[in-house]
Amino acid sequence: MQRTLLKDLWESRGKVVLIQGWVQEIRNLSKIKFLILRDRSGDMQTLALKGQTEEASFTAMNEITKESVVEIVGTVKENKESHWGIEILIKKIRLISLAATPLPVDNSDKSSTYIDKRIDHRFLDTRNRRVQAIFKVRGKISKIIMNFLDKNGFTNINTPKITTIGVESGADLFEVDYFGKAVYLSQSPQLYKQMFVSGGFERVYEIAPVFRAEKSHTTRHLTEFTGIDLEMGFIEDYTEVMDLIEEMIVDLLTNLKKECPDELKTLEISHTIPKKIPRLTMEEAKVMLKAKGKKYGLGEDLDPEGEKLIGEIVKEKFGSEFVFLTLFPSEVRPFYHMKPEGKKNLTKSFDLLFNGVEICTGAQREHRFDILKKQAQEKGIDLDKMEVYAEIFKYGIPPHGGVGFGLDRITQRLLNLENIREAVLLPRDPIRNSP
Ligand code: 4AD
Ligand code: MG
Repeated sequence: MQRTLLKDLWESRGKVVLIQGWVQEIRNLSKIKFLILRDRSGDMQTLALKGQTEEASFTAMNEITKESVVEIVGTVKENKESHWGIEILIKKIRLISLAATPLPVDNSDKSSTYIDKRIDHRFLDTRNRRVQAIFKVRGKISKIIMNFLDKNGFTNINTPKITTIGVESGADLFEVDYFGKAVYLSQSPQLYKQMFVSGGFERVYEIAPVFRAEKSHTTRHLTEFTGIDLEMGFIEDYTEVMDLIEEMIVDLLTNLKKECPDELKTLEISHTIPKKIPRLTMEEAKVMLKAKGKKYGLGEDLDPEGEKLIGEIVKEKFGSEFVFLTLFPSEVRPFYHMKPEGKKNLTKSFDLLFNGVEICTGAQREHRFDILKKQAQEKGIDLDKMEVYAEIFKYGIPPHGGVGFGLDRITQRLLNLENIREAVLLPRDPIRNSP
């Protein structure tokens, strides 16, 4: 007999079916036993009746524990009182795998188990439909973004995660012993993205792990996260990268609504799809923040509090959940960001904030080697010692720019999750490296 998924049972009313899954709940009375079964497609009430269910099966149900895996053969009956409209009258039940008791975590909808404990036993936690919905949406976010980039002429590449140099900032590197030599876990595919723009692909992207040795204990930082990085050649200005990102966000929200209506409903999420994302220079943002009592110097970056506040201001003023902040001071940007003509203190760069949290950083890159070398020097970096990076610029490279997103942050913001750890199956942070 073939297995029927629980979501398809309605079609089999009156018939005998075989179903398999986990025991979500079980209640044993002397003449009747209720069992809620769960599989990847949903859940369903089943019941055993003394005299109608096979004797051996009826007795065996006394031993079955919550979260055990079972197989049931039974008849699909209509039942107007059950919220499924149907239920399964069990003929036979077979225990496939018994779950030990007590369960280390409560994975029911009523659970109030703390996130840390849930992650310790994540495979039990993900049996909950709400938790599963988060990861179904996360998977779709990658897929929709990949489709969008493919349609726009980007090539999906894979670059090494074992590297010898970083271009973001040396402090965040994890050192690894590579047969007696020190190498690093990749803190960004930045160098390689630029390499393969120069390598003739013009447009490349990568979705891959990024490692940062940051000792940040926050609800938005991890030591390993999934980066969505893209880079595009033959641009005239950084605003062209922003135009693409704006289109990508609209495409993402539009397609998510189409592809995950059930998950978004389960998670009670709805977003307004923006037509345009407001763009504010950092200078303008700082003026707005000052009016609300938060002051920043010219060369300063915003702190999380400032990001949150500007998110609120933008929402009120423009009705937008997103905002681009542009033209960041060069003090707070890496050496490879291009500077606007005659403005040494600024960079042709931007961040995208989503409800007050940075989800993406981007910029036009400096592709003129002599200027790049000078900019690196000003930050105390000697490009002659970074031959692999330097070479990219010496044999013909188009003007280019790109961005890095954190998939974990996008998921967190999209689903209004309090902690980034909710959006990652097995998060890594300064104190967690297991399971
Ligand atoms: O802002 P970041 O550091 O920028 C770069 O890596 C550049 N190479 C990007 C570029 O192409 N210009 O990182 C990019 C994004 C951030 O906006 C954030 O969403 C995410 O990566 N991110 C983190 N997510 C989780 N935990 C962390 N510790 C993160 N650090 C950055
Ligand atoms: Mg950033």
